[in-house]
Parts: sequence; structure tokens; C-alpha cells
Amino acid sequence: MIKNKKWKMKKHIPTIKDVLLEIEHHLNDKETILKTKILLMHSNDINNFGELDLKINQKMQGLEQFRVNFARLLNGEPVQYIISEATFFGNKFYVDERVLIPRPETEELTETIINDIEKEQNQQLTILDVGTGSGVIGLTIKKIKPQINLICTDISKDALDVAMLNADNLGIKAQFYQGDRLVPIITNKLKVDIIAFNMPYIKKNESVAKDVITYEPNQALFLPTEDFLKQFLKDVPLVKKDKITIYLEFGENQKEEIGKTIHDTIKTAKTTFFKDMQGKDRYVRIVYED
Ligand SMILES: C[S@@+](CC[C@H](N)C(=O)[O-])C[C@H]1O[C@@H](n2cnc3c(N)ncnc32)[C@H](O)[C@@H]1O
Repeated sequence: MIKNKKWKMKKHIPTIKDVLLEIEHHLNDKETILKTKILLMHSNDINNFGELDLKINQKMQGLEQFRVNFARLLNGEPVQYIISEATFFGNKFYVDERVLIPRPETEELTETIINDIEKEQNQQLTILDVGTGSGVIGLTIKKIKPQINLICTDISKDALDVAMLNADNLGIKAQFYQGDRLVPIITNKLKVDIIAFNMPYIKKNESVAKDVITYEPNQALFLPTEDFLKQFLKDVPLVKKDKITIYLEFGENQKEEIGKTIHDTIKTAKTTFFKDMQGKDRYVRIVYED
């Protein structure tokens, strides 16, 4: 597509603007252009769109790698995997195909948890991030509330490796356990005040975007069994202190089913549902006291 252009020749180094204009000339899909800008920022060690505007007339760096990355983008690969990075709550997290790409909806859930913690008298809470993936929920909370005690678990050893790398990169100390839902907590006789679980919630018969299904880990996407949440909730009494607060993120249209499962499993729980920024039912807070 852009083969014969001057900036493709070996001796002529184009500016960032040259490359961008050339691509914009051939593409009119706004989303791909936005992602291309992210690739350009990555190649040129630029941190944000404002800085990109300021440096747009600079000579392009890393042109060869940019070409490879751009081809991967056109092939449908998520930009976060191409640059091995996702921004969550203003922090940069390493990501690759071992973990789900963190979603903006999960930032909202994390913010709700942080706001709730702020209202608590006891700030030395133990927080369990189940299915931690890249670690975004737990590590973000601990970065903002360093006094909390953080435990991260995931059934995937690969995902835990990524979460541990992110903890190191952010200079955060946490405990990491591999295992199914609450099993590692029960086995190690630990008790927690708060649980956050962004569950794998897509049902097997639901349609999923091609790039998601092709690149993101199945284990992070698909609800493994019909009674997955019920079994998880049944184990909660084994890990709770006097009181426990559980935050779940779930799929749109699952509110009723989730509400029923909670009610059937923990009768005395106080549940509050929240919508995401798009107005879709997306989260629930469950407060469980004896
Ligand atoms: C939707 S992803 C969430 C990842 C991350 N917390 C986030 O919000 O970006 C679900 C995560 O749960 C993990 N998972 C799946 N089944 C699990 C199970 N039975 N026990 C613990 N973790 C599980 C997956 O490996 C994946 O990392």
C-alpha cells in the first residue's frame, strides 16, 4: 500500500507526520488511525497524544519495527498486545496474550472499590483480587491505598506471572497464589475483608468479536460452568472475617441471573447493582455480615 513512497526508501528518514499522513491517506477508519497513532507513539517513545502533536515534525524512529507493528494491526491484532502495554487508571501495565486486555469498565469497578475503602474506618484491609489477570484491579488499589494487604490469585500460572511482573514494575508487594476461585485462600487459612472478581462471564453460545476470540485467553473470557458463581459464593463464609464485601463484574444482561444466584446462596447479603458508563448493568457489591 505504501511501498513506493519516498519515506520507505532506505536513506530518507520521514518525519512522524509524513508517516501519519501517508497512512491517513489510505485509511479512513478513525479507530485504526487512532491505534496507528498509538503505534507511532510507541516507536518514538512518546507518552501521550499531546506530546505526539508537539513532536509530529520530528524524524521517525524505529521505522522498521513500526512497519511490522502496523502490519500486525491491520491483521486484527489488538494494539495493546502489539506494544505489550495497556494503560489502566493512569498506570502502564505489561500485557501479552497470557492475560485479558484490561477494559475501561474495570477501571470504573476499581474506582468504586477505592471510593468505598475511603469510607472505611479500618484502612488496613485485606483485599483479594480473584482472577487477577494482569493484576490491574488489585495493583491499582494498592498503588492508591498502600496500607492495604493485597492477595492476588488466578487459575492461570501464566496470568500470575504477568501480574507478578506488573507488581515488580510498579514496586508493589502482594501475595500471589495459583488456584481455582477461593481454594488457595481456604487452603492457606487466610481471611479477607474485600474480594474483587472480574469473572470470565461470556456464555459458550454468545457471539464474541473476532479479535477478542482470536487473541485473548479463552480462560479469561468464557464462563466455565453454569454454577461457577454459585460455587464461588458458597465458599465465601470460609474466607470471611465478621464482614466481607464482594465486588463482581459481569456481562450485560446478566443482572437478574446474578441477583438470583446471590440471593439463593447468601440469603442475608445486601446487594447493590451498578451500571457502567454506557448505562449497562455491569457490577454488583455484596455486603455479607453475620
Ligand atoms: C475477565 S478476566 C479478568 C482479568 C483481570 N482481573 C481484569 O480485570 O482485567 C478473568 C480472569 O479470571 C481467571 N480465571 C478463570 N477461571 C478462574 C478460576 N476458576 N479461578 C480463578 N481464576 C480464574 C482468568 O485466568 C482471568 O485472568
